Amino acid sequence: MPSLKIKNAKFIKSILDRISKPKPALPEIVFSGRSNVGKSSLINCLVNQRNFARVSKKPGKTQTINFFNIDNKFYLVDLPGYGFARRSKMQQDSWDKGIEDYLLNSPELLIILVLIDSKVGVKKTDQQLIEWLDFNHIAFQVVATKADQISRSQQTKQEQRIRNDLGLAATYPILFFSSKDRTGRQELIRLLDNLLSQI
Ligand code: GTP
Ligand code: MG
Repeated sequence: MPSLKIKNAKFIKSILDRISKPKPALPEIVFSGRSNVGKSSLINCLVNQRNFARVSKKPGKTQTINFFNIDNKFYLVDLPGYGFARRSKMQQDSWDKGIEDYLLNSPELLIILVLIDSKVGVKKTDQQLIEWLDFNHIAFQVVATKADQISRSQQTKQEQRIRNDLGLAATYPILFFSSKDRTGRQELIRLLDNLLSQI
């Protein structure tokens, strides 16, 4: 059993640039993924609270970097959208720059979890994100969400497919997660526990 216990989870603030990061500085575990991939649900599942991550979610176009303080030990950081995807179109807006700047200049960033829908699989924006993280030497873990929507045999196939589509090694472990039946929750907590204890 992992020793990491998530007891007190608190929404702290939404920011647009790293200058506004909350104090104190604590290790940051960042969540990214396309809309609807199950990001908020995963965070809610992790902290055992319904509608927790949604609290800060503003409907419409306001998109922010959301900080949740967990037991004054670390932050969960909810990162909406893939600004990077638009780079190729030369339409990088201030939001994209805000995210990039945050990711590139955050010594507290422990890992970024890249969420991919188990059933939908890898999209171009996911590929671009992984390439960008790789290029910038930012540690990432791929998490396949909504694992309850595919069978065990499909899971094995999808795992290989996601690896291929993201250009990852054949041995790269993808973490399958379901907020619905809590598959992968202990595994993810163990992974975070390991990372946090290495600091
Ligand atoms: P945005 O905030 O819009 O970017 O979406 P999100 O990535 O935060 O996804 P959210 O957690 O809001 O979930 C999107 C939809 O997927 C909701 O209808 C959820 O109920 C559903 N969903 C999320 N996780 C799971 C899961 O593990 N299994 C199943 N079956 N559905 C899920
Ligand atoms: Mg959400």
